[in-house]
Amino acid sequence: MKNRKLLMIPGPIEFEPKVLQAMGAVTTSHVAPNFINSFGNSIELMRKVWLSPKGQPFIVAGSGTLAMDMAAANLIETNDNVLVISTGYFGERYAEICKRYGANVTILKTEIGATVSLTAIEKELASKKYKLLTITHVDTSTGVVINPQPIAKLAKKYNVLSVLDGVCSVAGEEIKQDEWEIDVVLTASQKAVGVPPGLALLVASEKAMKTFKNRKTLVGNYYADFTNWLPIMNAYENRNPSYFGTPPVNLIAALEVSLQFIIEEGIENRFKRHQKMALAFREAMLALELQLVPISKNNSSNTLTAVYYPENINGGDFLKNMSDNNVIIAGGLLPSIKTKYFRVGHMGSVNSNDVIATISAIEKSLKTCGYHFRNGIGISTAQDILS
Ligand SMILES: Cc1ncc(COP(=O)(O)O)c(C=O)c1O
Repeated sequence: MKNRKLLMIPGPIEFEPKVLQAMGAVTTSHVAPNFINSFGNSIELMRKVWLSPKGQPFIVAGSGTLAMDMAAANLIETNDNVLVISTGYFGERYAEICKRYGANVTILKTEIGATVSLTAIEKELASKKYKLLTITHVDTSTGVVINPQPIAKLAKKYNVLSVLDGVCSVAGEEIKQDEWEIDVVLTASQKAVGVPPGLALLVASEKAMKTFKNRKTLVGNYYADFTNWLPIMNAYENRNPSYFGTPPVNLIAALEVSLQFIIEEGIENRFKRHQKMALAFREAMLALELQLVPISKNNSSNTLTAVYYPENINGGDFLKNMSDNNVIIAGGLLPSIKTKYFRVGHMGSVNSNDVIATISAIEKSLKTCGYHFRNGIGISTAQDILS
């Protein structure tokens, strides 16, 4: 396809042709045996991808924000204390969501590009009785990754529920939900899970489900209420027809295909591939003497990279040049630095050719915009890592 543009934004991403074929198949009834089977298989596959054999999966029509909303709506009651660990735009969003359900929210944050220290988190947890804490695994506005494992351990120590916003990490960054004892891991279909936008996906631990069942008050959101969805998930898993809200039949068929691909690749192999692609891309940017938004290599995500424009380069011109060079990337998102940086997604089925093509387009576009560097330095740096 002569005019095909490579989609390298941090979601939606490039999807596997077989996933897209499932989207384009004839739509069946939501109680047809083949769909019931697809739904049931998807629930079982989610447990494998999340590494949560004991978890309760939920598959609901909506975006990642709905998954965030569902966790908050079902686990928070008025006046609960909630700790939000924020590394950018989506941490702030989580704070707003929790406030809607009557929580007293405390936000812990640091300078842009940094992570919150474990010492600060423990100090806060020790200061009063918290019900729940939220972690943004990869904040898509900064490309900062946080290690959720020690935070979940702290949450356990203080008997606090842990909720991981994994919208930009599930099936890309390493997560072992049961082993790490994270109570909720949530995501959306359009990122590393590899399915077009439209599915909110969430796995809740036994402890989270117990907390939900022991609520004293009704869930303040009708659509998000687990009371409505749990019987549906159970029915489909037992291969029985059911109805609460019409499921997005084609999206769920596509989800089954994509989750199957993930399992075939092997979840550990998939994490490693993401690490390699990200390393190649990041090192290429550094070789071009560009500055990354994350301030250390240890907190740079493997699913996307956020890069500051060089001085005197106009972001709008650069992004237009990228599109003219047939690669679509994203501009900034964090309001305070929005016009100063760009973001490149490298997740899902991304391969080394995609990474090299993107770096090549970045080099061409930087040159057109007047930035000077040694020709091909980004590409050769990445090639050395990828080969
Ligand atoms: C980390 C994170 N959380 C939440 C969301 C919200 O997801 P959605 O846009 O699907 O509602 C996004 C979207 O990019 C995200 O990256």
